[in-house]
This record gives sequence, C-alpha cells and structure tokens, in this order.
Amino acid sequence: MSARHLVLVGLMGAGKTTVGQQCARLLDRSFVDTDETIVATTAMTVAEIFASQGEAHFRELERRAVADVCASPEPLVIACGGGAVLDPENRARLHSAGLVVWLQAPPDVLVARVGNDTGRPLLRNGGAATLERLALLRAPAYEAAADVIVDTAGRSIDEVAALVVEQWSDQCHTCG
Ligand code: S3P
Repeated sequence: MSARHLVLVGLMGAGKTTVGQQCARLLDRSFVDTDETIVATTAMTVAEIFASQGEAHFRELERRAVADVCASPEPLVIACGGGAVLDPENRARLHSAGLVVWLQAPPDVLVARVGNDTGRPLLRNGGAATLERLALLRAPAYEAAADVIVDTAGRSIDEVAALVVEQWSDQCHTCG
C-alpha cells in the first residue's frame, strides 16, 4: 500500500479532531483538520461561511482544502469535516493519499458528544434528528471511503487513538 497520510473520517461528534490530535502525538506527526484550514484561509468560521456564502461554497473550499492537505509532502494525520467524503473527488484523493479510517458511533452517542454546539450549522435545527438522518444518508459514502472502521462507542479518546494507531501499524508498516 502506498499510504502516507493517516486520514480520519466520520460524522460530526465521531471524535475526528480529538482522536486525530492524539494519533498525531503517538505517531510524532503534524495534525491537520480540514475545517481549521478553511477557517484559517478565509478568516471566517464554518458557521459564517454557511450563513453568508452557502453550503455549496463551503464544499468548494473543502474540496480545495482536501486537495492541498493530500498534496503535503510531509506525512500527516488528517481529520476531514464530516461531509467531505460525500464528494467522489475527495474520496478518491483521500484514498490514494493515505489510509482512511472511519470513526463510527451510533447517532445517540454522536448527539451526546456534540451537545448544543452552535459552531456546526447543519445541526442548528435539531442535532438528534439531523444526525440520525445523516447517519443513514452518509453511511454508503463513509463505507466507500474507508479502508478501516473503528467503533468509538463506549471508548475514550486514548482508547480509540490506540486502536487507530494499531490499525495503522498493521496496514501501513511500510508507509512513511
Ligand atoms: C459538516 C461537518 C463539520 C463541518 C461542517 C459540515 C458535515 O465538521 O465541516 O459543519 O457536513 O458533516 P466536523 O465533522 O468536524 O464537525
């Protein structure tokens, strides 16, 4: 396998950012979150981009962020925004640039984790119903993107990160 980056995908609340930061520490790599890249380049929050320019514009920025981060010569740990894998171009890029790990959890666990977060525009009309719907709608895209699935329910960040790194070592012992 030619994977270099370790890529985390999954729904909002799956733990991509916190687990990704811990994996980066364990692997002694830099961590990049595509949402944070977008926020840094636009100087706007994700919620502001959705409100002022719409979701389609956000997805375009996300496509660029995914392409840029995949092209990094430095092997990274990458957390993708929850909707990034809906785009087939993103899926193909991520797949050829690294090992893609789907952090999975049932919707009730995701709801408990995201709480009343106002920074996620897609959840503003009710997190529970939206996450239930997105879980069904997006499962095929996560499945298509993922090389590996890690169940995060009932596990701490450290436990999930350790499992992810274990998978990484098993599947990518020859990767940079
Ligand atoms: C989104 C997930 C968010 C962010 C945006 C849209 C989605 O990222 O990209 O609010 O479509 O699932 P997180 O998954 O990091 O919360």
